[in-house]
Amino acid sequence: MTDLFLAKEDIRKACIFDLDGVIVDTAKYHFVAWRNLANSLGFDFTERENEKLKGVSRIDSLNLILEWGGMNFSEKVKANLAFSKNEDYLSYIKEMDESEILPNVVGILEGIYKNPNYKIGLGSASKNAKLILDQVGLTKYFDFIVDGSMVTHGKPHPEGFLLAASEMKVLPENCIVFEDAPKGVEAALAARMFTVGIGREDDLGHAHLVMADFSKTTFAEIEDFFLGLV
Ligand code: BG6
Ligand code: MG
Repeated sequence: MTDLFLAKEDIRKACIFDLDGVIVDTAKYHFVAWRNLANSLGFDFTERENEKLKGVSRIDSLNLILEWGGMNFSEKVKANLAFSKNEDYLSYIKEMDESEILPNVVGILEGIYKNPNYKIGLGSASKNAKLILDQVGLTKYFDFIVDGSMVTHGKPHPEGFLLAASEMKVLPENCIVFEDAPKGVEAALAARMFTVGIGREDDLGHAHLVMADFSKTTFAEIEDFFLGLV
């Protein structure tokens, strides 16, 4: 039987999660490590500025921070700075455990996992994504993991989400993306995927659906929005 004869609820579908800010709150560790680096170079930046780094790759984040501090370095020095920031960041990541999983993420993952029509993917800009998922014990839920080392273009480019979908053999229009960063929402929309913003309506109003977090919902409820039943 071809897909043509399948009911909509039987078509192969997928959920693709961003990691940082959707599954775990690592922004606080990125902030501490970037701030330590900025301080060592003689300047500081605020938590509000840190918001602009959400979803942004490591090297692009460094370039932005150096711009805020009015500094510039050769590519070689920048690579060293990014390396030492990551070493500092990893010292926090290595202390993480399942207690840092955001509210009801496991409930949502379980809801999807039990549904035979859905695969589960990760679409993260972080090169540490696999380590973080292992650290908090969630790797088992994922059919395919895209991390920052597997893409050439960062968000808002759709490359990461499209790669996750194609590796899971699911069409983009049959994917639901969960994203907390405005640039990540742009990337998911550019991939033509149903996009759920996790955070504030003010920041993520361009998503198809926005919720503060997963605490007051179930996967069945989210799927109703995706299928156009709500
Ligand atoms: C994103 C974060 O998920 O990953 C960004 O939102 C971060 O803040 C980016 O810069 C890259 O992360 P990493 O772990 O490769 O330095
Ligand atoms: Mg994020």
